[in-house]
Formats: sequence, C-alpha cells, structure tokens
Amino acid sequence: MGTKKILIVDDDQDFREIVGACVKKMGYDMLAVNGVAQAKQGIGLFEPHLILTDTQMPEETGIDLLKHVKANHPETPIILMTGFSDLLDSFKAAELGASAFLAKPFRDTELQEVLERILSSSEKTPPAGETFTDDNDYCQIAIDDFVSGRNLQCSIFIRIGPADKGFRYIKVAHAGEDIAMDRIHVYKQKGLMHLHVRVEDFRAYIGLMERLVNAAQKPQLKVSADKRAKLVSHTLSLINQELMDLPISDESFDHVNSILSATVKLVTSDEDSFELLKSLENLSEQVFSHSVAVSIYSTLIAKAMDWSSTAIQMKVATAALIHDIGKRQLPPDLVDKRRSKMTAEELRLYETHPQRGFEIVSDNTRYSPEVCQAILHHHERMNGSGFPNHLMSSKIIRLANIIAVADEFAHEFEKCKSDKQEFPVVRATQHIISMKSDRLYAPAVDALVDVLTNKK
Ligand SMILES: [Fe+2]
Ligand SMILES: [Fe+2]
Repeated sequence: MGTKKILIVDDDQDFREIVGACVKKMGYDMLAVNGVAQAKQGIGLFEPHLILTDTQMPEETGIDLLKHVKANHPETPIILMTGFSDLLDSFKAAELGASAFLAKPFRDTELQEVLERILSSSEKTPPAGETFTDDNDYCQIAIDDFVSGRNLQCSIFIRIGPADKGFRYIKVAHAGEDIAMDRIHVYKQKGLMHLHVRVEDFRAYIGLMERLVNAAQKPQLKVSADKRAKLVSHTLSLINQELMDLPISDESFDHVNSILSATVKLVTSDEDSFELLKSLENLSEQVFSHSVAVSIYSTLIAKAMDWSSTAIQMKVATAALIHDIGKRQLPPDLVDKRRSKMTAEELRLYETHPQRGFEIVSDNTRYSPEVCQAILHHHERMNGSGFPNHLMSSKIIRLANIIAVADEFAHEFEKCKSDKQEFPVVRATQHIISMKSDRLYAPAVDALVDVLTNKK
C-alpha cells in the first residue's frame, strides 16, 4: 500500500504550515490549501485518503466542504478542526457525518492518533468515527456554571445522539482554556443548556475527595462495567420515580435530575464509593430509595438557597446519598423499623448510626472532611435535642442542616405514602414547618417549601 495522502484546508497560513509539517513528518503525503474552493479542486487532482479541515473560513466553511465531500466523495473521511466558538457547528457536522473532531489547539500526538485511527478504520469497517463511548463516563454540567465565569479545569465535550445507539462525545475545549463568555451566552440563547465533562476530570474539581490530590493514586475501579451500569441504571430509575412524585417545576425537575445523574456517575466511578452505594442498595430497598430521596430534596434545598455551583450541589447530593451508610452496621431487623416502634435498647443502637457512618466514610474513602461531618451531624437538631452529640445550632455544619430538613421531610413523606394517607406532600411539608422554630434550620425549611409550592 502506498503512502497515504492528506488534504489540509485552513485559511490561517501559519496553522496550515505547522499542521502540514507535522503530517509530513508522520510520513504522509499532503496538500495544503487555503479555502473550500481550492479544496474541491484539490480533491479531484490529489485524491486524498483523508481531509483535515478548519471549520470557520471566510467564504465557504468546513461544514460546506463536509456537505460537498459527503455528496461527491462519501468514502473519504473528513476531520474537522474546531474551537469552542465552533460548538454549534460541531453538532451540525456530527449529524452530517464528520469522521472525527480535533479541538484546537491540539498536540501532534493527538493529530497522529486521530489520523491513524480514522485511516485504519476506513480500510476496515466504516463508518469511521462512529465509535460510541460509555455514557457513564461523562457527566452533564449546566451551562449556567460556565456563565458564572468559572474555569472548570476540565476538557469540555458536547454530546451527540441518537441515544438508542449510544452517545458520542466530542471535545470542544481543552482543560483550562479560556472560555469566551459571549459564546456561552449565544449558546444559551440558542437553547443549549448543558455541556459535558469526563467524570474522572470532574472528580478533583468537585472537591469531594480532597485528599486525592494525585490522580495517579486513584484506585482503579475493579468492578465490571456491567455491574456498574446496573447500579447506575437502578439508581437513576429511582431518582426519576421519586422526582415524579414531587410537585416541582420542570426546571427544578431537569436541574435535579442532571445533578443527581452526574453525582451517581461520579460516585460509582470510584472503587470505594461504588462499594458504599452498592452496600446501601444491598441493605434494603427502603433505605436505598430513602437515600435517593434525601439526596433529591437536599439538592433542591441547596439550589433554592442559592448554593448555585454544580460542584457544591454535587457535594450536597453525594453527602445526602450516603448519609445513612452507618445503618449497614445495625442488626438487620432494625434497618427498616420505624423509630416509634423501637424499644429503648433498639433506639440506643439506632442512634449510633451517624457515628458509624462517619467512621465508615472517613476510614474507607477519600471524601472531604465536610462530607464526613455532614454524615455525623445529620440527626443533630438546632435546639440540641438531636443525636449523637446533642450539638446546638452553630456547632452543626450547614451541609448537615440541609440534609436534616430533607431527611425529616423524606421520613414523613414515606410514612404518609405507606399508610396511604391523602396529600403526603402537604403533610410532610407541614411536618417540617412544625419543626422550624426550634429543631430545623429555618432557611432550609423555607427553601424546600418554596420549591414545593413552585415559588422557586
Ligand atoms: Fe439517619
Ligand atoms: Fe435518613
């Protein structure tokens, strides 16, 4: 087989020359042209095995070239070199059948990897570039997080469907790249509400696992992808079920769904936290769905209290998801028993679960001290009537105040539903309002009431 030929199309002369030199060094033949009209001519004369094109060019664009190639030379793969400013074009290009994308600026090793991949796959089983990624490896971040000007230090991806074939993720910006705020506003106006990041990249940013400074020390997930996928899908379906029961706005529904999905993907991507969540699932269906529900309510409260960043909301969601992990050390017949039915001795044992949970999480995982403290404090009450340490208001960490409100709401809601009482949401809401003056943190109660009455 002869040397492979690559056609490079870019109006930026410097960039064209640099990419041309790289491609030559890799042993390919190349022709570099400065626009789509020249490229169309070049295809006939040069007969390239692959086309590498810029997206934005002054006259015709990379998308125009892609359409031309798909119509006239469908067998020739075409790679688009894109920037964050070409994000909407990337959606279009993916639909039109671009083989791959290279987010500018890219390293020569990235270029080489994608050229080799596409050229070898075009010889074997087309269509090239139709490699689908595991959806559980990415999490969705609200575009508002970028509007607030936060630099995520994560590469940013867009997700291309269709869902039934599995999604495809396209990198549109590198970690730490300056994201133009005006572009973000444009995307938002055009209805793009989310971007995606790799779960792995996002972990450090979230600060859930602050002690995990060096990513290289991260334990590999030993469980199979299948086992992880089952736990993720069971948890996501519970999230949906619980959300359906709540009288909340569509916006709150979508928001919490997105935060919780990202949280579940993140939690299950780490060996130790996977084990925690799995043990809750194994413990009892009741405890597991309660944990999911508390995580939902806590996230709704945090959002309504203007704890607005995705990272903080995910931290709240995670702490709430595992708040009752200490129950796995209780005797099995106590796990699902109502407190009102427990004997004095059983109550004494039950009240050890926050301390047990704190120890399990601090000893076995890399969660931040704040998450561990929240588990320890989730049954403390503002007037000192809680357990295990009878702490008073300011001694209880704020994250635990939020979980406490969510937990009380959840218990009352679950009780009303299982007793088939009418208006369980109203009753559970009245229950937390009745505890607002002395036991629960009032701003968190108000926040949940506002969400449930559609004021937020
Ligand atoms: Fe608890
Ligand atoms: Fe609980």
